[in-house]
Amino acid sequence: MVQVVCKLNELSAEAPTEVPDPTDEAGVETLIVIRLGEQIVAYRNICPHAGRPLNWAPGRFLFAHGQLVCAAHGASFRPEDGFCIGGPCRGASLAKVPVAVLGEQLILV
Ligand code: FES
Repeated sequence: MVQVVCKLNELSAEAPTEVPDPTDEAGVETLIVIRLGEQIVAYRNICPHAGRPLNWAPGRFLFAHGQLVCAAHGASFRPEDGFCIGGPCRGASLAKVPVAVLGEQLILV
């Protein structure tokens, strides 16, 4: 069964997008989806430092100078692979979620 993450037209071209995690039956967890040109990457919205979501408000992320920054304590992540390049969990990584484009939708693979 195909698990849909979101519609492509729901994704911002300029900033990460927060979407519900389709694998979380409780409906609590979310994913971070980032457009990088033609590529789309997704991560669990859980910071490897203290396990908090990275956003500072629903759907709002710190994204500047090409880095995704956790709003809790400032860990900085490379959008392309989720690797932490600075901050309290330097060297750790966000958990990548494999996704693919199917028609006008982003799906889990
Ligand atoms: S929870 Fe993200 S830097 Fe601390």
